[in-house]
Amino acid sequence: MQHAWIGGGLRFSYCTEHDLPAISRMLAKESVCRWLFFGPNTDEATRSYFLPLIEEMRTAFRAGRMPDHHVFTVRLEDTGDFVGQCALFPIDFSPGSFLIGYQLDDACWKRGYGTRACTFLVYFAFTVLDGYRLNGDTVAGNTTSQRVMESCGFVLEGIQRQYWHAGGEYHDRLIFGLLKTDLAPERLSGLGEMFTTEHSAEV
Ligand SMILES: CC(C)(COP(=O)(O)OP(=O)(O)OC[C@H]1O[C@@H](n2cnc3c(N)ncnc32)[C@H](O)[C@@H]1OP(=O)(O)O)[C@@H](O)C(=O)NCCC(=O)NCCS
Repeated sequence: MQHAWIGGGLRFSYCTEHDLPAISRMLAKESVCRWLFFGPNTDEATRSYFLPLIEEMRTAFRAGRMPDHHVFTVRLEDTGDFVGQCALFPIDFSPGSFLIGYQLDDACWKRGYGTRACTFLVYFAFTVLDGYRLNGDTVAGNTTSQRVMESCGFVLEGIQRQYWHAGGEYHDRLIFGLLKTDLAPERLSGLGEMFTTEHSAEV
């Protein structure tokens, strides 16, 4: 079973405990958490969120099956430097439908990596997992995240007004969706050409 994929100068590997210090440092930053409904996190909060996910993935791989959750660490392909993380979570009672998520370290913003990470999630969900629908959401002020999803073909499906409370204010929640059938066959096959698999060591 593959545990890592390479594309667009980035390497996407299933998250392990070794990645947690870098993820913790990222999620402790005000800048990264500005538009998130959680954080900045303590080291303990990040570990207690990620460790059960890592364990679920590890158990699945050892049993020779795909995990329910797909949490990836993103690094530069050439140096291995930490860039961030991205994930696909299953939607209850909707096999083939996933929630997307991505957070990149602030030193890596504005270089196209966010768009590439989201593109990887689209590739992974629709070609590796054979999913049919992706779901994304963001705070209305997070225009960068909106651009990332729009560039990947997501459409705005709704707005939940004053949905989140953060920083002493209420924020609207924008809901985005992407169906596999929204993407032209050429675009889907282009995604398949963009990412290659890499067999890595034990997860
Ligand atoms: C959202 C995030 C992943 C974007 O990553 P990124 O690597 O900076 O994004 P990209 O470089 O691919 O840029 C995406 C688009 O946003 C635009 N953009 C970048 N920074 C911007 C800014 N400060 N204001 C407005 N637009 C901006 C880019 O020009 C690009 O638009 P284009 O496709 O029209 O050229 C990153 O900022 C991040 O991790 N933020 C903190 C966590 C977070 O908010 N996650 C999303 C939760 S929904």
